[in-house]
Amino acid sequence: MNPPWFRLLHVVSVGLVATLTVSGCVDSSSSSPAPVATLTRASATTPISYQVAKYDPIHFKPAIEQATDQQCLACHAEVLKPAMRKASPAGVEAASARAWYQQISTYQGEQETFHRRHLETAYAKQVMNLRCTTCHQGNDPRDRAPGSSATAQSDLTLRKTVTPETTCLKCHAQMNWPVMGLPGPWPQQSKDLFQNNCLACHIAIRTTRHQVTYLNAKTIEELAAKPNGGDVCYGCHGGRAWYRTHYPYPRHAWPDMPTEIPDWAKDRPTQSEARFLAAAAARQGEKK
Ligand code: HEC
Ligand code: HEC
Ligand code: HEC
Ligand code: HEC
Ligand code: HEC
Repeated sequence: MNPPWFRLLHVVSVGLVATLTVSGCVDSSSSSPAPVATLTRASATTPISYQVAKYDPIHFKPAIEQATDQQCLACHAEVLKPAMRKASPAGVEAASARAWYQQISTYQGEQETFHRRHLETAYAKQVMNLRCTTCHQGNDPRDRAPGSSATAQSDLTLRKTVTPETTCLKCHAQMNWPVMGLPGPWPQQSKDLFQNNCLACHIAIRTTRHQVTYLNAKTIEELAAKPNGGDVCYGCHGGRAWYRTHYPYPRHAWPDMPTEIPDWAKDRPTQSEARFLAAAAARQGEKK
């Protein structure tokens, strides 16, 4: 029925699909492509296919809540490998480029990938203790729009695989200087006045802070007590703000806290997000 050229085309395209399926899961940086069968489930040794791995239950709730970094890295080792270009395609040397969000004194070393900047660099390890699941809480790989069908995941942020307003915004929001009684934005009107020292006030105000599993509270305070320590605090509280909004931080009671709650703080929680409390981590039975 079909002319011979059609049958040939059909065979070719089936072959092409098969090749794509195989090459899809291969680390493109390795010279000798590993076959599909080398993908193994972190918990078992049975080889599994790319499609099965993509929908591995570990990607979704509830399994993702218990997942360790090692389990994720069994398949995603590449996210922590150094992978920076020496120069941009247009020829700008990485070593000489510094973006607006890389100006704070705590930013050190060569350009790094996003994942390495948060998980692997020396400064990241000093002040933070992020895990894969701090940011990744499971998303539908088929559909990144919430509520598009009766069965679609409803708690997604459109086109995102993480929820920025409960992750990134915590450390990349604007500094809420008006509630602090400061004369103006930190870099222009407050930094010099307070000798780049947030502890001038915060030695006694909102002192119950950073008691969450993904921050190293003690080290943060130690670094911030050094000269120009304001850069440490400001880094996460305005210095590399991706958003025009504030993060509504929980307002923990602190010693000598005034009893009257200011209007702006009336809707604030008084506890950190439950999943980041030390007790929750103890239940999970492991840290990074
Ligand atoms: C058994 C192997 C395996 C394990 C274990 C695994 N993944 Fe994946 N993951 C995959 C495959 C395969 C894909 C599909 C990759 C693609 O389409 O580019 C994928 C895709 C993803 C994506 C992209 C999803 C999207 O919508 O584009 C993210 C994010 C991700 N994984 C995170 C994780 C995290 C976090 C963990 C640990 C909780 C984890 N993965 C554990 C194999 C695995
Ligand atoms: C600071 C938050 C954060 C942490 C921690 C984090 N990720 Fe991601 N990850 C992201 C964001 C943001 C993206 C890009 C999402 C998008 O494109 O929508 C991403 C993308 C990915 C992807 C998709 C492929 C890619 O490289 O773009 C994989 C796979 C992934 N992450 C795995 C991991 C694993 C494994 C860990 C732990 C070792 C981890 N992530 C830790 C925020 C994070
Ligand atoms: C717990 C705090 C924290 C969270 C949550 C967080 N970041 Fe960061 N981010 C940092 C710190 C600290 C640095 C700067 C590290 C340094 O200077 O070495 C940084 C740096 C960056 C950079 C600059 C990377 C570079 O190499 O210049 C980008 C981009 C970024 N973050 C985006 C995000 C996004 C997007 C998310 C949410 C998925 C996110 N961050 C979540 C703390 C955080
Ligand atoms: C003049 C004193 C003063 C200085 C200097 C100061 N703060 Fe504050 N800060 C305050 C006060 C007052 C509050 C609000 C206290 C309350 O909850 O009633 C506050 C609140 C905060 C909050 C919580 C905001 C919210 O929306 O809940 C953060 C975060 C913060 N400060 C960070 C910083 C950082 C980072 C610096 C330095 C770059 C800094 N502060 C410098 C007085 C100060
Ligand atoms: C690595 C990023 C990072 C650094 C560095 C950092 N913070 Fe924070 N800060 C956060 C995050 C994330 C939260 C929210 C934690 C939570 O949900 O309880 C927070 C919460 C706060 C709060 C709200 C306290 C409350 O009532 O819960 C204050 C005030 C604050 N930080 C001030 C500071 C000061 C002052 C410094 C320097 C000494 C500083 N921060 C350094 C990330 C950072």
